[in-house]
Amino acid sequence: MSRVAYVNGRYLRHAEAQVHIEDRGYQFSDGVYEVILIKNGHMIDEEQHLKRLQKSLSSLEIVLPMKQTAMRHIMKEVIKRNKFQNGIIYIQITRGVAAREHSFPKYSNPTLVMTARRIAAKNYNEIESGVKVITIDDIRWKRCDIKSISLLPNVLGKQTARNQGAYEAWMVDAAGYVTEGTSTNAWIVSPDGRLITAELGRNILSGITRNRFIKIIHELNYKLEERQFSVEEAKNAREAFFTSSTSFLTPVTEIDGAVIGNGRAGSLSIELLKAYDNYMNQAY
Ligand code: PDD
Repeated sequence: MSRVAYVNGRYLRHAEAQVHIEDRGYQFSDGVYEVILIKNGHMIDEEQHLKRLQKSLSSLEIVLPMKQTAMRHIMKEVIKRNKFQNGIIYIQITRGVAAREHSFPKYSNPTLVMTARRIAAKNYNEIESGVKVITIDDIRWKRCDIKSISLLPNVLGKQTARNQGAYEAWMVDAAGYVTEGTSTNAWIVSPDGRLITAELGRNILSGITRNRFIKIIHELNYKLEERQFSVEEAKNAREAFFTSSTSFLTPVTEIDGAVIGNGRAGSLSIELLKAYDNYMNQAY
């Protein structure tokens, strides 16, 4: 089945979709993006993703090139034309094409690109065996709350993880606290059963999945602390996991070689993941 991409007003065959070489996204990473999960043909937490997209755009003074209702229509059309039920839609907006000059161009039309990709359904046996995480220095800029397409530290961090046989790298700030994963939010469960994840600020992304899990945790009456935690605390946690639109909740069984819990996914992690699965099935 051939994939379809949307580029500035046109639906094109994915293989032929292009933007100009002087697009500021290409030259300066001058743009933002969103990744939204599609489950059974429906977008999960579309509203929250669009809100965050708008916030990222405003932070960079990029104006959405159309009304939000028009954009939603295009998103639905992209999903429809790609003919799959489970996957992701990727939306990228850059400041547009202009002669290369660092300051904002006087005139430029933002470039809007959307692609969609099928992803295989998760297998619970696989999830339960968990994944390994390493820790690395957080070398990113001071506005990690903006979902910028400038992802070099994240790319390098993820590759460092892969090179060491790990799935994700958790980034650690100068004070020794875990900020987040290279493409995920980081969580631990304390020995007495409290869920802990970093508080929102400019040093992390306000993950839509993170925020959804917070709601679920409240509904299930578990104790939650939004605060920083150190690598040491994480290594001594009862459970650890990370969340994102594409990884949902993924249990962590090893951090820098230290085994977490009994080396399998923790029971609270599995319970939360099942609750999230239920949420997704009822979300539309
Ligand atoms: N990553 N932190 C970072 C640095 C991220 O890049 C992401 C998302 C998250 C989780 O956010 P959400 O729950 O809204 O997906 C946290 C996306 C999936 C990506 O870059 O592919």
